[in-house]
Amino acid sequence: MSYQNILVEARGAVGWIQLNRPQAMNALSMALITEVGQAIEAFQTDDEIGAMVITGNEKAFAAGADIKDMEDQSFIDLFLSDFPYNRRDGWDSLNTARKPIIAAVSGFALGGGCEMAMACDFILASDTAKFGQPEINIGTIPGAGGTQRLTRAVGKAKAMEMCLTGRMMDAEEAERAGLVSRILPVSELEAEALKVAGKIARLSRPVVYMAKEAVNVAFESTLQEGLRFERRAFASTFATEDQKEGMSAFVEKRKPEFKNR
Ligand code: HXC
Repeated sequence: MSYQNILVEARGAVGWIQLNRPQAMNALSMALITEVGQAIEAFQTDDEIGAMVITGNEKAFAAGADIKDMEDQSFIDLFLSDFPYNRRDGWDSLNTARKPIIAAVSGFALGGGCEMAMACDFILASDTAKFGQPEINIGTIPGAGGTQRLTRAVGKAKAMEMCLTGRMMDAEEAERAGLVSRILPVSELEAEALKVAGKIARLSRPVVYMAKEAVNVAFESTLQEGLRFERRAFASTFATEDQKEGMSAFVEKRKPEFKNR
């Protein structure tokens, strides 16, 4: 597959996706989002790949949906196409991927860029990262999960202030608020993202899928439903060969060899 707006490569067992419109701060054109979706689908169906990373460049992860693409759209255009969730646009692939996807964020992650990072399973940020939902300043609101995921991640006060004023959070504040899992020096972000994704990719794939699914249930259920789901998923890991291998390797003081079975 050849891509115009992203760089895509397999780095060992890690599917690496770099947003690549540096002249436009990696603004998420429709074409770029479609390509991200295609790359995710390709990695999702590639048995050699166990996890993915989405990243940008040092200046910008992505400065939002492409305002030049959007400015002339009408209500009816967006409503009928179900923008941005029409499958063609790739968000659906991001939201439904079963393999873990890490966002490695340097520089601006604004609007749809912040939403894309939040749609990933977790965010590793460099010390230069800035997160924001500035749509209000251009007469609109977040449309790819910003009002929902940001609120769940950082709570009402910060999410409301950010969505109502467009104020950006720097990396420190984002880490304190729980939006990002860790901050790294900008020069180390790429290597660390690769290392973390590589670690996940070497683990048991079915068990990784169950862990991801179980954490995600926390966002969509009551505590009791979530706990029940977790217990069932926990018990079902014992139906895998990889659980037997993992536990016997521990007991025998050796490294496990997972077979994804
Ligand atoms: C289109 C964009 C863009 C965007 C930047 N550019 N962001 N083009 N859409 N979202 C372009 C600029 O037009 C400019 O192109 C070039 O990138 C460099 O940007 P500058 O503004 O000159 O850079 P700088 O002064 O460093 O400021 C960086 C910035 C600013 C703070 C990130 O560009 C900015 O505020 N961008 C818009 C952020 C925003 O409002 N995002 C939300 C979009 S709405 P030229 O050709 O002039 O050199 C949204 C809704 C999501 O995301 C809905 C669901 C998907």
